[in-house]
Amino acid sequence: MTHKNFVPSIYLHLKNEGKVTWKAPSNIALIKYWGKKENQIPANPSVSFTLDACATTTTLSYTKLQKKNGGFSFDLFFEGKPKEDFKPKILTFFTRIEKYMPFLKEYHFKIETENSFPHSSGIASSASGMAVLALCLMSIEKELNPEMDLGFFNQKASFLARLGSGSACRSIEGDVVQWGNHKEIDGSSDLFAIKYPFKVHNVFKKYHDTILLVDKGQKQVSSTVGHNLMNDHPFSKKRFKQAHENLSTLQAVFAKGNLDRFIEIVESEALTLHAMMMTSLPYFILMKPNTLKIIDKIWEFRKTTNTHVCFTLDAGANVHVLYPENEKDIVFQFIKDELVVYCEEQQYICDRIGFGAKQL
Ligand code: PMV
Repeated sequence: MTHKNFVPSIYLHLKNEGKVTWKAPSNIALIKYWGKKENQIPANPSVSFTLDACATTTTLSYTKLQKKNGGFSFDLFFEGKPKEDFKPKILTFFTRIEKYMPFLKEYHFKIETENSFPHSSGIASSASGMAVLALCLMSIEKELNPEMDLGFFNQKASFLARLGSGSACRSIEGDVVQWGNHKEIDGSSDLFAIKYPFKVHNVFKKYHDTILLVDKGQKQVSSTVGHNLMNDHPFSKKRFKQAHENLSTLQAVFAKGNLDRFIEIVESEALTLHAMMMTSLPYFILMKPNTLKIIDKIWEFRKTTNTHVCFTLDAGANVHVLYPENEKDIVFQFIKDELVVYCEEQQYICDRIGFGAKQL
């Protein structure tokens, strides 16, 4: 597969107008994507759990333009209100994908979007937001080309979403998703994500992710800046190699349901991501004192109870607490009793592994 596979042939019949709605989830990386090449090509492969509760719903209405004006024509509404400051991101997205969606300049679009999670929660909506827009656009393309099969539909949706925000390509399908070339994974690609193709033990099937909102503010470092810091990073080569190795190790861990090894890989990946940020130039500390207190508490609780609770982190201070279904009562009680005090305004989001985007 090359990017050329996603350039469609000329459409014969463009519809005059229409409307589509999709809901796409967020995702949490277990093996982190950090560092990229040109055109949103990842520097290393990654694996994620698709989430369920954290999601973006978007309705895309389209009307054929009487007269093309040479540019993109769209209005954007976030939670019912016009949102001018989201527009530049959409414009960049449209510009990047125009080659693969040649009908974009034929229409005026109305984009109405909302998140299931609070806007100022420190949870990035770019993964679910870009994935859902890519899916809406794919629905329009499918109307123009009804023979398109589901496999191609999802693949191209993931391909387009990647051009919006890298990790968004992992928000199309569920429940375990892999993105980026890896020598042991047939069909893996830097261009789009795929459903994880190997066995995943039942213990992972209903995995929980309780997101502790330690810092609800804007990200201190945008991911674009963060990825770019990996370009001249003294440890990048070793880090990219390590991600490949962790992916290889994860195969048996997923198959056997080896939670001890799972925890080791997931926590090490989270801390490595932050270590990369701390050792780049300029350097950043994205964790807050409460992030560390939570990590400490999790380690102590895991040791004393022999449970399998663990954490992962995004490029920020919030903590994703991961645990299996059969330990949910004891772990959730622990979260409420001992961890929620470290959250801003005691806020957290109960999420779990999910099964991908849905058309509404
Ligand atoms: O999709 P981006 O460019 O916002 O990058 C996301 C990077 C991490 O969330 C830190 C890791 C990942 O793999 O999702």
